[in-house]
Amino acid sequence: MLSEIRTRPPLLCTERLALRELRLDDARNVAERAGDKRVARYLIAVPSPYPVALATRWIIGRLAWWGQGRGVTMAIVRREAPDQLLGSVSLRRYARDRRAELGYWLGAESWGSGIATEAARALIEFGFRDLGLAKIYAQVLEGNRASCHVLEKLGMIEEGTRRRHIRKGKRLLDVTLYGVLEDEWR
Ligand SMILES: CC(C)(COP(=O)(O)OP(=O)(O)OC[C@H]1O[C@@H](n2cnc3c(N)ncnc32)[C@H](O)[C@@H]1OP(=O)(O)O)[C@@H](O)C(=O)NCCC(=O)NCCS
Repeated sequence: MLSEIRTRPPLLCTERLALRELRLDDARNVAERAGDKRVARYLIAVPSPYPVALATRWIIGRLAWWGQGRGVTMAIVRREAPDQLLGSVSLRRYARDRRAELGYWLGAESWGSGIATEAARALIEFGFRDLGLAKIYAQVLEGNRASCHVLEKLGMIEEGTRRRHIRKGKRLLDVTLYGVLEDEWR
């Protein structure tokens, strides 16, 4: 497949947004926005506050995913402001099983106008069309109603809840699984 031999992920555009590769100079925005308590509380491995040095390491790790065939992480930006990272959206790929886990977050100032749904829809389409995936799924920490709603809007089906499955801080949290199969997406 053509995408398999690309050395960098392609720019993906939607009506309002562009999904571009992360850059090291996004680190400050990542730290500020993902490290915001309202965002970090629903992300498994993000502390609040989030030091810029840790955000830089996260970006370096995510940039390596593509070349290793492990998936892709894109910065979400407005088409007219490509330098201003609003959030990120990712697919962590498990090639053997032809599936990938969708992940996303958005700075709180951008919530509530459909941006996460628009960005995730574009990356799911890319995953099925260009990465040859058969299934895309997501894991939502308990209480995250907004994210469940995003996944439902995307046509994902709830697949069940794993009880006290993931530790966040000192608490063990339930995780609800959502998924969509390639033929359901088409
Ligand atoms: C989840 C998140 C990405 C959503 O971003 P967003 O751009 O506001 O999402 P959208 O606008 O596309 O859709 C959100 C939907 O949830 C709804 N919603 C928001 N808060 C809600 C709540 N507490 N309960 C139920 N629905 C809620 C919105 O009304 C909207 O639905 P609508 O379009 O039918 O009105 C954002 O809240 C976020 O970054 N949260 C923290 C990190 C996170 O949860 N990441 C996902 C981990 S699985």
